[in-house]
Amino acid sequence: MSQMSAAAPTPGRTQRGIAARVGSQHATFVDIPAPAAPGPGEALCRTLELGICGTDREIIEAAQPFTPAGEDFLVLGHECLAEVVDVGPEVRGFKPGDLVVPTVRRRLGPSPCRIDLLSMGQYTERGIVRQHGFSAPLWVDPVECLLPVEPELAGVAVLTEPQSVAEKAFHEALAAQRARLGPDAWTDPPPRVLITGMGPIAFAGLLAAAARGWPATLLGRDAAGSPKVETALAWGGRYLHVNDFDAAPADLDRDGFDLLLECTGDERLLVEAAGARAPRGVSVWLAAARRQRETALDWGRFLRQSLVRNHIHIGSVNAAPRDLDAALAHLRRFHQTRPNDLAALIT
Ligand code: BGC
Ligand code: ZN
Repeated sequence: MSQMSAAAPTPGRTQRGIAARVGSQHATFVDIPAPAAPGPGEALCRTLELGICGTDREIIEAAQPFTPAGEDFLVLGHECLAEVVDVGPEVRGFKPGDLVVPTVRRRLGPSPCRIDLLSMGQYTERGIVRQHGFSAPLWVDPVECLLPVEPELAGVAVLTEPQSVAEKAFHEALAAQRARLGPDAWTDPPPRVLITGMGPIAFAGLLAAAARGWPATLLGRDAAGSPKVETALAWGGRYLHVNDFDAAPADLDRDGFDLLLECTGDERLLVEAAGARAPRGVSVWLAAARRQRETALDWGRFLRQSLVRNHIHIGSVNAAPRDLDAALAHLRRFHQTRPNDLAALIT
């Protein structure tokens, strides 16, 4: 309980957060009020670790963050490991000292729709869409937005949120493929996975593939021998430099990819990599740039190939509860079986 009193919020106190400001392309510190004591069903939490990904960079570079109403900045931070400091009345199952991973997305009203499939305007996302994130030391959340994490996973649990995004991609692609090809699709042989990019989501995709025993190739710009390439290889991935990539294999059934995970938001790479998809291949788009770029791409070819090869394109954002569960389960498994490779993902 000493922890509780040490961090108990004092009225009028402020704390610092890292924010994106409207009109600025640089992250800045902001002073914001320290949270009030947790209300019924809520927990006061302290951020222990924060992950940073391409989404944070996109938000900052676009200089147009989705701020909470009436404010001109957004406190960043959506990938988080935290510790419960205090709980409000009527809270069961959480106590001070517990480790938690907060979910990112929150419903704005009742809807039968799965939370990750809601339309823009029907939700907020902490650190991304109209609700401040976790880069300030203390924050309050309803406990149903907190995922309990066992202490053994403290060193890796900050990966849960990005991992859940990759797990969603795999779940969605598999569901779509089985709906049209039958329940055994992608079982034997497993789908050949191509992942474009070398950021956190790309590596989360590599883990999701490893967890399923699906062969994965990472397509990137890093030189052979670089730490990221070594990490990819350690996870059983194949690495392909973009300069060595054959975007139009002659025998697509033999050499094409069944599942493409696009993790760069680079439309040039997206269109190029799409040419290497096997017939009946599925693409999942996990990244997109907010800023506009001038590009002259052969969209007609993209369309024709997609059509005659019966491709599926899936846009995918955020994660469903099942994806968060899978993320934690896979982190738990790899923490037991490959602790060093897992720890190496956190740089
Ligand atoms: C987060 C998702 C979120 C998305 C778009 C990603 O970085 O991982 O949870 O839905 O950004 O806002
Ligand atoms: Zn992220």
